[in-house]
Amino acid sequence: MTISLDPFFAATADSFLGDFHPSIQTALQTHYYDKTHGRTAEWDQALAALPQTTLSNVDFSQPRVTLALPDGGPSNIDQQQLQNQLMAFKPWRKGPWHYLGIDIDTEWRSDWKWQRIQPHISNLQGRNILDIGTGNGYFLYQMLGAGANMAIGIDPTRIFLYQFHCAQRLLPPNGAHLLPLRSEHLPAFAAFDTVFCLGVLYHRRSPIDHIQELMSYLRPGGELVLETLVVPGDEYTILVPEDRYAKMANVWFLPSPAALENLLRRAGFKDVRTVDVNKTSINEQQATKWMTFHSLEQFLDPNDPELTAEGYPAPRRATLIATKP
Ligand SMILES: C[S@@+](CC[C@H](N)C(=O)[O-])C[C@H]1O[C@@H](n2cnc3c(N)ncnc32)[C@H](O)[C@@H]1O
Repeated sequence: MTISLDPFFAATADSFLGDFHPSIQTALQTHYYDKTHGRTAEWDQALAALPQTTLSNVDFSQPRVTLALPDGGPSNIDQQQLQNQLMAFKPWRKGPWHYLGIDIDTEWRSDWKWQRIQPHISNLQGRNILDIGTGNGYFLYQMLGAGANMAIGIDPTRIFLYQFHCAQRLLPPNGAHLLPLRSEHLPAFAAFDTVFCLGVLYHRRSPIDHIQELMSYLRPGGELVLETLVVPGDEYTILVPEDRYAKMANVWFLPSPAALENLLRRAGFKDVRTVDVNKTSINEQQATKWMTFHSLEQFLDPNDPELTAEGYPAPRRATLIATKP
């Protein structure tokens, strides 16, 4: 068994996504259903063991995604047992969450990222949104909280799909869906109002192809919100790490904000602008009991927090916004 994506197809049959169902089904068959993960049985069991209740009137506008019983209290749910059950889905990287009495303090304060981005983007009211590299879907709920009609997350990492379904199983049908695919597997929808791509570009070997993929999902006039690691410098500055960057093996491409703006314009976007640049702090990304591996503090030079362990500029992230003509 594994998590069924049938609810996504039922919920979107009458939307513009209906035309794309056959190609999404084919991609899911190849990259999801035919490729079960070794821990599927363990995770299926842990998911089924979670409390079964349906919450109503959930307010998604809280920085901590809050899934609480109406009186706010932990009711008769054994809190220690519930905490142990949720720990089965470690590492919890993106959050924070409140889950039936348990606070899940994740590696990342994703709410801080959202607070930096949200003031600069178009009003999400009624918009159809695609979030590439959504992780466990934390931001999908922020998007619904900001009024989005539909928020579709794309992420191939299986454990994050399970974390998303820990939340979904408590909720009535809603506009958030997570498809366990890579962006390369998606059709050119040319229909989404906003495409988010947060923290993914540096993982891609071919950044211009990736930017063109992102463009292909948007309707004309639609908005791209792109957040990625950058380095200080001018429009000629791009760092390609020789090997690891901040101990990550899969980092290929770190432009300066000005170089990234150029790339977006060259790819055909208009109204390109950098709206935020932020040096990541060890308070925003740190180990917690929900993510016990090394985190940012261990990825930096112990003698100089301005540098990574490899001697590159320490992580800073830029958010750029652009419009598809
Ligand atoms: C650094 S995390 C960023 C998560 C979240 N967007 C955020 O900003 O906090 C990168 C995510 O991108 C996903 N990812 C990597 N390559 C991808 C691809 N080609 N298509 C979609 N998601 C991808 C990974 O599984 C991971 O969850």
